[in-house]
Amino acid sequence: MSYTPLVDAEGFAAFPAPAKLNLFLHIVGRRADGYHLLESIFQLVDAHDTVWLRVRDDGQIVHHNPMPNVPAETDLTVRAAKLLQTATGVSYGVDIRVDKRLPMGGGMGGGSSDAATVLLALNRLWHVNWQRQALMDLGLQLGADVPFFIFGRNALVEGIGEIMTPIETEATDFVVLHPPVHVPTPAIFGDPELTRNTPSLKVSLLEGTADWRVLRNDLESVAVRKYPQIAQHIQWLSQYAPARMTGSGSCVFAAFVAKDVEKNTSQNQANAVIFGLPKEMSGFVTSSLQEHQLLG
Ligand code: C5P
Repeated sequence: MSYTPLVDAEGFAAFPAPAKLNLFLHIVGRRADGYHLLESIFQLVDAHDTVWLRVRDDGQIVHHNPMPNVPAETDLTVRAAKLLQTATGVSYGVDIRVDKRLPMGGGMGGGSSDAATVLLALNRLWHVNWQRQALMDLGLQLGADVPFFIFGRNALVEGIGEIMTPIETEATDFVVLHPPVHVPTPAIFGDPELTRNTPSLKVSLLEGTADWRVLRNDLESVAVRKYPQIAQHIQWLSQYAPARMTGSGSCVFAAFVAKDVEKNTSQNQANAVIFGLPKEMSGFVTSSLQEHQLLG
């Protein structure tokens, strides 16, 4: 691993788990099992959780700070470690601690990224040395967003989330707002009014003749109907730049192109957005990443 983790006084090593934004998200079909076929650009950003790991020799997997009301066995980081342990038969275990910074249930993939980071890090710490694709296949068992974070590069994502084509995205700053609602993903995907047959734009996206900025998130119209607060946040952010929801919500974002920062326009605009944020709204600025730091 090219990434050298910081190790704390108790011997826990720190691994960043970056968030994602869906620059656009189309539903292009549905599988027989009900899962939806997507077409989406997944963009890594530098806002992150930190997953702390310490290898154990006794085979136990112990979460030191699980979420209140979430039994450790259902925590995605614990499930990721167990899955890799079972699949490989290693005799090691691990102590896990997570510094949660990313919004939960916000459509930024925080829980999926934490799980992917556990798989990537334990692949090295446990001397498993699996190929990335094998880890991605394993990660898919934990959730549709997990393979992307193991892939670790900005990508045009298809299938239910497991088919990746690397894609160059512009270096950009984003303003992200977090409406205070918890969006249940299955309810958004399961809504009868969801558009499920948007035509594929893969070829034009890869050729660069289609621009994600003029596309949409098909999940957004359903989410804003169910949760007016999401609509309010989009409306407020849209005063400054085109704003859109990520994943199944609730977070919404707008891009501020970094090259414009030199012209001293967009960064000021980003600051204006955040500094002028009404007190009932919360938000932050984050920057695009090219790859997951654990890639290597
Ligand atoms: O895979 P994950 O647990 O993240 O998905 C949560 C729910 O979202 C699924 O149970 C399914 O209802 C819906 N989903 C979907 N199609 C996808 C991803 C998720 O229908 N591609």
